Amino acid sequence: MRVLLAACALLACGLAQAQPARRPGVDFMSPALQALQRDDTQNPGQLWVAEGRSRWTEAGANGRRCADCHAAPEAMDGVAARYPAWDERLARPLTLAGRIAQCRQRHQGEAAEGADGPAVLALSAWLAHRSRGRPLAPPDDARLMPWSARGEALWRQRFGQLNLACAHCHDERAGLRLGGAAIPQGHPTGYPIYRLEWQGLGSLQRRLRGCLAGVRAEPFAAGADEWLALEVYLARRAAGMVLEGVALRP
Ligand code: HEC
Ligand code: HEC
Repeated sequence: MRVLLAACALLACGLAQAQPARRPGVDFMSPALQALQRDDTQNPGQLWVAEGRSRWTEAGANGRRCADCHAAPEAMDGVAARYPAWDERLARPLTLAGRIAQCRQRHQGEAAEGADGPAVLALSAWLAHRSRGRPLAPPDDARLMPWSARGEALWRQRFGQLNLACAHCHDERAGLRLGGAAIPQGHPTGYPIYRLEWQGLGSLQRRLRGCLAGVRAEPFAAGADEWLALEVYLARRAAGMVLEGVALRP
């Protein structure tokens, strides 16, 4: 019995070594960019954080403000770490951006807005900032599991003229370079991000669209379930990793 246990321990150890340690995207950047991300007075993403903070107390179309229904802003600390989460009414998962857009529609009489719409993006940045340093903690909700499984299948599916899966780059080639760029492991720990290439702030979905374009694949339709499934899976894959707040990327 003791021999068996020892053998199992060895095997587990071998398996653990086969799996490379998870590292956030910031680790793959130059020291200069890392310093820029860390410095709130220099990181351009902080402009959106400030805008989100002021939008929190601005009246919506029906005169209601976010702050009217939600207690102090501190009540929003850690919320960003728990998304995507299940929405009872829609009977599907919602990303944090989706949740904010729903509150604006349901409770403020505002028009629908996507993850990269100006109000949703700024409020997402502010909420991401309020969860900086916290571990990503996707809900342990059985209703999310089929979505995560679908996302994982997409992660392993080949796309585009280059015929590559997400996993080919982000699991097997992480740390190598592609053109000028370092290939990160693809963890969603810093969204929304300020991307130098965009000269602006953008959502995780916008980043994923870029990866599909990179393999010369037709992106999924706007609002397609595939985006959501990938986001649910990515959050589980990165569960426990520390959130960067609004990150900077090349
Ligand atoms: C051909 C290789 C390649 C494939 C295939 C690929 N990506 Fe990427 N991905 C990259 C590179 C390179 C970057 C970083 C780009 C940069 O920093 O300029 C990146 C960035 C990312 C990031 C951002 C990580 C961070 O730290 O902010 C995520 C998330 C991501 N990819 C997810 C995906 C998903 C999901 C798929 C499949 C649908 C996919 N990628 C397919 C190369 C790839
Ligand atoms: C009229 C009241 C009301 C207003 C105004 C409102 N919300 Fe909400 N919010 C709710 C309710 C109720 C929920 C619970 C989910 C639901 O039923 O929509 C919620 C849930 C949320 C959540 C999820 C919290 C969690 O713990 O998962 C976030 C984030 C959020 N709201 C942000 C906002 C933002 C940002 C605004 C302003 C743009 C806003 N809300 C405006 C009532 C409101």
